[in-house]
Amino acid sequence: MNAQDPAPKGDVTKTANIVLNGKQSMMPVRSGSIGPDVVDVGRLYRDTGCFTYDPGFTSTANCMSKITYIDGDKGQLLYRGYPIEQLAEKSNFVEVCYTLLHGDLPNKVQYDDFRNTITRHTMVHEQMTRFYTGFRRDAHPMAIMCGTVGALSAFYHDSTDINDPKQRMIATHRIIAKMPTMAAMAYKYSIGQPFIYPRNDLDYTSNFLQMCFAVPCEPYVINPVMARALDRIFTLHADHEQNASTSTVRLAGSSGANPFACIASGIACLWGPAHGGANEAALKMLEEIGSVDRIPEYVKMAKDKSSGFRLMGFGHRVYKNYDPRAKVMQATCNEVLANLNHRDPLLDVARELERIALSDDYFIEKKLYPNVDFYSGIVLRALGFPTSMFTVLFSVARTVGWIAQWNEMMEDPEQKIGRPRQLYVGPKERPYTMIDRRA
Ligand code: ACO
Repeated sequence: MNAQDPAPKGDVTKTANIVLNGKQSMMPVRSGSIGPDVVDVGRLYRDTGCFTYDPGFTSTANCMSKITYIDGDKGQLLYRGYPIEQLAEKSNFVEVCYTLLHGDLPNKVQYDDFRNTITRHTMVHEQMTRFYTGFRRDAHPMAIMCGTVGALSAFYHDSTDINDPKQRMIATHRIIAKMPTMAAMAYKYSIGQPFIYPRNDLDYTSNFLQMCFAVPCEPYVINPVMARALDRIFTLHADHEQNASTSTVRLAGSSGANPFACIASGIACLWGPAHGGANEAALKMLEEIGSVDRIPEYVKMAKDKSSGFRLMGFGHRVYKNYDPRAKVMQATCNEVLANLNHRDPLLDVARELERIALSDDYFIEKKLYPNVDFYSGIVLRALGFPTSMFTVLFSVARTVGWIAQWNEMMEDPEQKIGRPRQLYVGPKERPYTMIDRRA
């Protein structure tokens, strides 16, 4: 599809008929531009008195979206139709932000204007520094991010009318621009160094690097290979359709909550080891394995359900093929290590683990391939970030996806407050018993 094509609106292409309890429901089947059709079950309860049951939403679409498309079987990821491999190679994160937000690649004027706007919103209110100093000095930077990003609502609550598209866009620019500043402040606070202010002469990613690694007593020199690698990591993580944290942002936003509070809820969800915390967990696992000869032991453990151990950085809810982001990440990893003239023994462990797992029946049958997190930890470590910052970096990148999805939801006339139903299996109604009569 290109910008000239009429956008499909989830048109009804057929119907699905279900008969339950002697009652019939004719459910519309909607088609998108690509991907599986969806059965619209919105009438099911009214028609038959039954709900659908789908823990983890494995077969449930929660919204219509034009932003990101994933074909898990093919290993394909498109932002607004553009393949992730092409964006990672030819674009940059700021251009990707514009594209995710506005639907098409920007022309030169649009790009310059957008980049300028983002650059000029990077400072945070000086009073914000007091929020940071309220945290324990050794606080995890993700804990700091959950609190401080939520605190932005206190600064911009009255100025954000979520029903006004212009104000929504101002809030969008603010959050994209301020996230690197806040992430760098969380890092600096957690290591006891002074905060470094943003520099408007630097691009988005170089500025972030200097806010993280510069110190006031000496000049900081940007390594362009490092800046390019981090920019690519941001691009790879910018959006991933209706994943757990994005669904959290949409659910929080569906009640009309302030966008900064919604993004804070996404950050909290992202922190979990099954989601954004996986690259930290993958690196820890590689460190624990330590050497190539110990790999078989860990592969055996991963296949044994009773061990409770999983190969971190392997498997994905949607990708049942190689995660296209993992391929770009692997190439970036080689590039960074070569540039820094740095040999990381964990890369040997990772490569061999990948080779063994991909030829093992257990992983083949279950379609478990390396995901984006498998190599990203090694790259981030080479760039100088401690593991505690990995998920923070992910949150900086994913903020654009969260806020693009939030904007899309706010513009959707079918948007309703998110309110799932349940299958109740608790006690039936029973009378209250006085305490002296209880067994
Ligand atoms: N190692 C070993 N076995 C695994 C792994 C793994 N990493 N992942 C899944 N399996 C097995 C499960 O035990 C299960 O086996 P079964 O069918 O015999 O019960 C089967 O594969 C399917 O697993 P599910 O957990 O049902 O798959 P789901 O799609 O719900 O989970 C998930 C996806 C959470 C990512 C899972 O693969 C996992 O835990 N991976 C490790 C954590 C990780 O790398 N997460 C990063 C995700 S990417 C991101 O968030 C950016």
